[in-house]
Amino acid sequence: MPTSSQDQDGRHGSSEGIRRFYDRLAHGEAERLVKDIPGRVSLEVHRRFLRRHIRPGWRALEVGAGPGRFTVELAALGASVVVSDLSPVQLALNTEFVTAAGAEHAVERREELDVRDLSRYTDDSFDAVLAFGGPLSYVFEAEQTAMNGLVRVTRPGGLVLASVMSRWGTWRAHLPGVLALEEQHGTAMGGLVLATGDLRHVPELEHVCRMFTWQEVADLVDAADARLVDSSASNWASLQHAGSLTALEQDQLRWQRFLDHEATACAAPGSRDGGTHIIFAAEPPHCRR
Ligand SMILES: C[S@@+](CC[C@H](N)C(=O)[O-])C[C@H]1O[C@@H](n2cnc3c(N)ncnc32)[C@H](O)[C@@H]1O
Repeated sequence: MPTSSQDQDGRHGSSEGIRRFYDRLAHGEAERLVKDIPGRVSLEVHRRFLRRHIRPGWRALEVGAGPGRFTVELAALGASVVVSDLSPVQLALNTEFVTAAGAEHAVERREELDVRDLSRYTDDSFDAVLAFGGPLSYVFEAEQTAMNGLVRVTRPGGLVLASVMSRWGTWRAHLPGVLALEEQHGTAMGGLVLATGDLRHVPELEHVCRMFTWQEVADLVDAADARLVDSSASNWASLQHAGSLTALEQDQLRWQRFLDHEATACAAPGSRDGGTHIIFAAEPPHCRR
């Protein structure tokens, strides 16, 4: 986990701090889903989730689009996309990456947007709203406001597709790093992070976010008056055993078979908390309150 200083404006986890983090991270974010086995498996599981739900001709809003791995996927599935992100640097990288992938034709426009405030869009503006990779994990106390907004701008019959950082899966995946932080800052700090999922309890951590449990996700969707229609972990068997899996990945046939089993395992109800991310699809209500 990256370590560094408090946000320059003194508000740990403020939207200015998160924007600066992603502006500085720049190309580093594009590496996240390709640099190791858990990332590559997570990318594939997220892709399959999209394929299950996006229909050709749909108009999508992508929130926290980052460098555009899923913008390209949306284009390949025949959707048109309003691409948005908090970070202007990530938006510029999105233009580069999506153009290089030959998918720019699918982009309606790009805009800077904080998921906390979707007031520029009217109700039912989009067939699908995509918030993969955790924009909801960066808004801290405003997560219900953000979720309500995502549901409001999605038309009835459309879908909110999102993923958030998972508390229990992250704990499992990064246990040695977590134990090292506890040695440095005390077990009370570790207990607070596990109780709340809020990494702002770790002093001087630059990359702060909130990690959710499945139950917290379900409660958030429920409180937004939406209905969960699908869910998955991003990983199940792929967070450990890097040596065996690296060898397996060299054998295309066996790797594809592993990915099929992994995607099935991730979608089992008992696995939802098991990956680095929790992925979910929610349908807005047919009649708004
Ligand atoms: C981990 S990256 C995910 C990028 C991409 N969606 C993916 O899954 O590959 C998180 C992205 O969310 C953006 N982000 C963070 N907080 C946000 C907020 N409050 N509103 C909108 N975007 C936000 C960041 O700038 C970053 O590009």
